[in-house]
Amino acid sequence: MLDIKITRTTAPKAKPDESNLGFGKKFTDHMFVMDYTEGEGWHDARIVPYGPFELDPATVVFHYAQEIFEGMKAYRTADDTIQLFRPDCNAKRFQDSADRLCIPKIPVEDYIQAVETLVDVDRDWVPHSDGASLYIRPFVFANDVGLGVHASKHYIFCIICAPSGAYYAEGINPVRIYVEDEYIRAAPGLTGFTKCGGNYAASIKAGELAEEQGYAQVLWLDGVERKYVEEVGSMNIFFVIDGEIITPALTGSVLSGITRKSAIEICRSKGYTVTERKITIQEVAEAYDAGKLDEVFGTGTAAVISPVGHLKWEDKIMEINDNKIGQISQMLYDTMTGIQWGKIPDEFGWTVEVK
Ligand code: COI
Repeated sequence: MLDIKITRTTAPKAKPDESNLGFGKKFTDHMFVMDYTEGEGWHDARIVPYGPFELDPATVVFHYAQEIFEGMKAYRTADDTIQLFRPDCNAKRFQDSADRLCIPKIPVEDYIQAVETLVDVDRDWVPHSDGASLYIRPFVFANDVGLGVHASKHYIFCIICAPSGAYYAEGINPVRIYVEDEYIRAAPGLTGFTKCGGNYAASIKAGELAEEQGYAQVLWLDGVERKYVEEVGSMNIFFVIDGEIITPALTGSVLSGITRKSAIEICRSKGYTVTERKITIQEVAEAYDAGKLDEVFGTGTAAVISPVGHLKWEDKIMEINDNKIGQISQMLYDTMTGIQWGKIPDEFGWTVEVK
């Protein structure tokens, strides 16, 4: 159990207009911070007014990107309960990322306690309007000072929160995705399964090129054969082919999404067949040509359930389900958001109240 020292701001900020939140643009009044020193472990857990860090220009993270992060949300229900969605899954995934990046792990219960305490301090910032939530961004970075390439002996764990609306400007409307066949995001043995900043840095160029052509994001293919579908920049991907729900298996280069896992569990509980396996982009295109590509959708904490209405692979354009949200995507969106905002019973026991 952490001993968290709380220093409240003396200058609370005005709350943003909930009709125009965007994603990750405005931040709450406080942040959680904890330090790590080799030999001492994690120490000095505290909640302080939100503000900048002063860091030496030679701090390791600036040069070698030893950093990991998480993405979670807090939701306000109709009776003003504030709840989290499967925070234990984020805490465990954070440990997996930490392990790969040589970052000292944070115990699951300490991670959850830190998130809950910060959300409680900033609970007035959890949006009231439909579809909006408090996006929570825990992260750890290496803060040794020096240019040698090795695991740092000092780290900072920080959590910030941003009242946010939909991640995509399209909201629940289908997005346009471009299949990236030049650049890759991950390869076996690399860091694809982690949430480390470096994965996202490596993806920016492809994302920018896609945006220039009017696409929301890219769909990544595997880094070896460039044939198997992996994931989209900020979400996992699902295909509904002839009634079967297929998503790429977690082979080490795909992020183990918590919304992905929950979507699979919801679909299976409703009697759908979900297969986690390798799937080539060729197979997707052939299913499309045969009129069997019923739906494509992405899943992610930020993206929730995001239908894909238009998929471009080389010269081939696939318009899916007449560019409308499909039946399974809609069911998943309604069930997932229903549980998260407490509109339907949480039969899975996924939500955790912030008391
Ligand atoms: C999330 O869905 O929480 C993510 O971390 C994706 C992000 C890069 C926007």
